[in-house]
Amino acid sequence: MPLVTTKEMFQKAYEGGYAIGAFNVNNMEIVQGITEAAKEENSPLILQVSAGARKYAKHVYLMKLIEAAIEDTDLPIAVHLDHGDTFEICKSCIDGGFTSVMIDGSHLSFEENIELTRRVVDYAHERGVVVEGELGRLAGVEDDVNVSDEDAQYTDPSQVQEFVEKTGVDSLAIAIGTSHGAYKFKPGQTPRLRFDILEEIEKLLPGFPIVLHGASSVIPEFVQMINENGGAMPDAIGIPEDMLRKAAKSAVCKINIDSDLRLAMTGTIRQYFAQNPSHFDPRQYLGPARTAIKGLVQNKIRNVLGSSNIL
Ligand code: G3H
Ligand code: 13P
Ligand code: ZN
Repeated sequence: MPLVTTKEMFQKAYEGGYAIGAFNVNNMEIVQGITEAAKEENSPLILQVSAGARKYAKHVYLMKLIEAAIEDTDLPIAVHLDHGDTFEICKSCIDGGFTSVMIDGSHLSFEENIELTRRVVDYAHERGVVVEGELGRLAGVEDDVNVSDEDAQYTDPSQVQEFVEKTGVDSLAIAIGTSHGAYKFKPGQTPRLRFDILEEIEKLLPGFPIVLHGASSVIPEFVQMINENGGAMPDAIGIPEDMLRKAAKSAVCKINIDSDLRLAMTGTIRQYFAQNPSHFDPRQYLGPARTAIKGLVQNKIRNVLGSSNIL
């Protein structure tokens, strides 16, 4: 099975009322945990790589790990650039074998976002690569991006048709109240997403795949593991799973998850060292971390995204 684009995946997900998980990868154990889970669930998969991940692990290492995952599992896997913010990084990923790129022009004006996105789409489509654009701005913190709550903006439905027509993008990331990182709502705040905006966009763009970023649930079990083993994340809070289930049944075809993987890995390793303070072989703690990621992803695919057993 060669690497695939997300075109067919999204079409089937849209019609079938489920979403494909897009999981961020940074090292071998993360790639293995995610792909082993998708294999057991018989689910297609998107593995995504951020600029930070490329800096950390190098493009070639991540690409080879993903190729190894395909050889090992024979799953349809798309490899996607997450939050590309320049034409150059998108070009480099397209030239380097990715089958999908995101050009995130959400920090630009509407017109500049269209211009940059169009340029990436032209380059990508000539080479058989698909493109995700973004309209609206999510709050939250990532390696290279830090958007404060004040700078965050819901997607304006009145702009989506023009954006999609003028850019030619294959999917669109929208902002409806999710955010990046482990602190998505303030303590005591009731989690709320603007499903009304999603529904409006769905009507304006019938059949068109929508993407949800910042969609980790910040699983309490792993936050607790961190807090009970020397960590301090008392106010971490994510998107409730029932909201993600609802989104997955709608036009949302891609749901992005990174923070949950980080929390699972870190919680497991913290607990391991608390229980085994004299151990120092990395396989002893990275192995359980990989198993935790596998369990987490399997649960997401089966109970939240709904993409089990569709291959
Ligand atoms: O939304 C972005 C992902 O969580 C990637 O984060 O830039 O720290 O790799 P990163
Ligand atoms: P989380 O921080 O909620 O996992 O979001 C990840 C993401 O949107 C990657 O693009
Ligand atoms: Zn994101």
